[in-house]
Amino acid sequence: MDVRLSEVLAALSHALDITEGQPRGHAERTCLIAMRVARQLDLDGPTRSSLFHAALLKDAGCSSNAAKVAALYGADDADVKRDRKTTDHLQPGQSIRHLVRATAPGRSPVAKAKHLKLLVAHGSTGSRALTELRCERGAEVARAVGLSVTAEQAIRDLDEHWDGRGYPHSRAGEQISLCGRILCLAQTAEVYWQDGGGAAGACGVARDRRGTWFDPALVDALRATEDDHRFWATLDEPRVASLEPVDRLLHADDDGLDRIAGAFAGIVDAKTPYTARHSEGVAEIAVRLSAALGFDAQQQRELRRAGLLHDIGKLGVSNRILDKPGKLDAGEWAAMRRHPTWTLEILQRIPAFAGLAEVAANHHEKLDGSGYGRGLTAAALTLPARILAVADIAEALTADRPYREALGPDEVLAIMRRDAGTSLDADTFAALEALLPVWSPVATPVAA
Ligand SMILES: [Fe+2]
Ligand SMILES: [Fe+2]
Repeated sequence: MDVRLSEVLAALSHALDITEGQPRGHAERTCLIAMRVARQLDLDGPTRSSLFHAALLKDAGCSSNAAKVAALYGADDADVKRDRKTTDHLQPGQSIRHLVRATAPGRSPVAKAKHLKLLVAHGSTGSRALTELRCERGAEVARAVGLSVTAEQAIRDLDEHWDGRGYPHSRAGEQISLCGRILCLAQTAEVYWQDGGGAAGACGVARDRRGTWFDPALVDALRATEDDHRFWATLDEPRVASLEPVDRLLHADDDGLDRIAGAFAGIVDAKTPYTARHSEGVAEIAVRLSAALGFDAQQQRELRRAGLLHDIGKLGVSNRILDKPGKLDAGEWAAMRRHPTWTLEILQRIPAFAGLAEVAANHHEKLDGSGYGRGLTAAALTLPARILAVADIAEALTADRPYREALGPDEVLAIMRRDAGTSLDADTFAALEALLPVWSPVATPVAA
C-alpha cells in the first residue's frame, strides 16, 4: 500500500484538534493560512513542503502536558487550552481574567483559591517547562513519521514570539525558524478567524501583535491577503491535500503507515500517566492472540494498527475524567463512553485505515451486548474486534491504575474467565490463557 502522507496526517490532525480544545479542522485551516502566507512570500519548495507537514502535526505534543494542565487548573485541559489561545499572556488584565475564568470553573471559592495558589507557585518557570515538553514531544513525533529537520524545528518554535517573550526558550527575531514564525502567526490567525472574526479577525490579531508576537514582515504578508475573499470564504473546505507542494509529495508505504500508527499510539498514551504504554501493549497482545488463532502476516499487521489506534478517540476526553482517582459520575461516564465513536469518526476519514476503523472502534463492545460504543452483539463483532476487546481488558488489568495496582496473570485470567463464552470470545480467551503467563509488557513507548 502506498498513500499520500498528507491525507493521513490531515485526517489524524482532527484528533490533535480535539485534544487542544479546538474545533475540528483547526490544524488543516492553520495549514491553509500558512501556505497562503508562503505563497505571498514566494518561499521555495523545500521550505513550503516542511511548513505544510509541520502545520498538520504542530499539536502532536499536545497530549503530553494535558494531565498536568488539568491538575493545575482543576479543569478540563481542553477548555483551559482553548481559553489560553485567545489570551495574550503579556497583557496582565487578559492574563488575570483567563486565570479566574479557567481555574476550577463552577466550583467553590475555596477550590478556586487552592488552584490559583498552585498556578502562582507553578509560575512562568513551570509554564515554560510545560511548553517545552509539548514542543519537544511534537518534534519527536514529526521525526518519527519522517518529516524534515526544518519541520521538526518549526514545531519546536511554535510558541516563541518575535519580541523574545514567548516560550519555551525566549528566542527572538530570526533566532526563531521561519516556518516556526509562520506557524505561530497562522495558528493564532485561525483561532480568531473561527471565533467569528473571519478574515478581519485573523488579520486584526496579526496587526495588533505585529512586532510583539509576530514577525512584522509575515504580518504584512498575511494582511495583504485580507482582500482574497475566495480564500477566506473557503477556509473551511477540506482541500488541504491539494496544497502539498507537487514536486515534493511525501508518501507512506506499509512501513510508513505502521510508523504513523505507532506515533499516534504514543500521543494517545502520553495523555495520561496511567496508560503510558497501553496502546502498544494492546497491539502486542492482540497480534500474539491473532497469531495463535491463525491470522496471516497481513491480518496481523492490520490488527496491530487497530490496536495502536483503538483509543485515539480518548484524545477528546478530559484528563479530569481520565485521571480521576474515584468513581466517575454519570456525566463523566457518558463522556468516557463517547471515545470509541470518536475513534471511528477519525479513522474512517483515512482511506488507508478505513478497513480497521470498525475493529478499532468496537474494542469496548461485548458479545452479549453489555459493552459500549454502539451496543453491538455477537453477530456484528468480527474475530479481530473480539481479539482486540480481550487484549484491551488484559492489558488494562496488567497495568497500574489510579485506583489499584497492576494485577498478575493469574488474577487477570481469573477475572476474565467469568466472562469467557458470554461477553468475551471463548477461543480468544483460551489463547490468552496460554499467552499471559509468558507475556511481559513492552519496555519502551512507541515513537519515543
Ligand atoms: Fe477504550
Ligand atoms: Fe484501550
